[in-house]
Amino acid sequence: MATTPIDPPLSSEPAVYVYEVPVRIWHWINALAVTVLFITGYLIGSPPFTLMGEPSNHYFFGWIRFLHFSAGQIMAVGFVLRFYWSFVGNHHAREIFRPPLAHKGFWKGVVHEIRWYAMIEHAPRKYVGHNPLAMVSMHFLFVWVGLFMIVTGLALYGEGEGPGWIHTVFTGPVLWLFGGNSQTVHTWHHLVMWAMVSFVIVHIYAAVREDIMSRQSIISSMISGWRNFRDAKPIDHDT
Ligand code: HEM
Ligand code: HEM
Repeated sequence: MATTPIDPPLSSEPAVYVYEVPVRIWHWINALAVTVLFITGYLIGSPPFTLMGEPSNHYFFGWIRFLHFSAGQIMAVGFVLRFYWSFVGNHHAREIFRPPLAHKGFWKGVVHEIRWYAMIEHAPRKYVGHNPLAMVSMHFLFVWVGLFMIVTGLALYGEGEGPGWIHTVFTGPVLWLFGGNSQTVHTWHHLVMWAMVSFVIVHIYAAVREDIMSRQSIISSMISGWRNFRDAKPIDHDT
């Protein structure tokens, strides 16, 4: 089990320090940025009615795009910093980037969690870090989908901005990959959004459900960093 140089909180229950400060700050900033991206991205794809008056005065759609691009850049920089932290942070910090996909026991854990969420399994397992199903869904539906959104988003941004490093690094190669058709990049950037929306809906449901049913702290752990357990010993499959 992971040890920490920090004193445990004042509690009679066993607790482990799991999510370090940078991970927690990143989680909540990223959650806010992604929420803004969903709303503004949806509005870019399905624009509301045109307002009366001179557009450059009320700047309505300009604000929608400005918010999208700002949140997009916050998400992109956060992603790079979070990836860096997966190398220098504690061993839980690498879970979503490099889950132990080659371990048979890990997949048994995934099956157990699916059965637990389907209410077939009645004995909850305790994990110090993320449970295996959470880890696998965060790896594919957040890390890879997030990377796709950042790369295609920056490609579209570079296209609007014109010549510069974003255009050279992202727009050129991405347009080439999508057959030189900017509309195809728009369509994929839009379609893949729904994969992340699905992840977030299930993620929030699972966080609230596990907070109630798993007999270990969940949402408060992403706020304080500490995981508290009741009853049985937790499993730390990553050490
Ligand atoms: C009210 C909204 C949210 C709540 C209550 C929430 C709650 C949590 C909790 C409790 C964890 C830790 C789960 C565990 O210990 O296994 C977590 C992790 C995570 N959440 Fe959220 N979350 C929210 C929104 C979001 C959003 C919008 C995203 C972005 C798509 C997101 C992405 C993630 C990721 C990637 C992790 C893994 C963190 C890491 O290991 O670095 N969450 N969330
Ligand atoms: C979770 C992350 C993201 C989501 C859900 C998202 C969603 C969307 C959606 C739905 C659209 C409309 C596409 C269409 O139908 O034409 C869009 C457009 C766009 N997004 Fe994103 N996006 C994300 C991340 C990013 C990032 C990181 C950037 C980089 C700055 C970015 C830049 C853009 C640009 C430049 C456009 C085109 C705007 C326009 O043509 O007016 N997006 N986004």
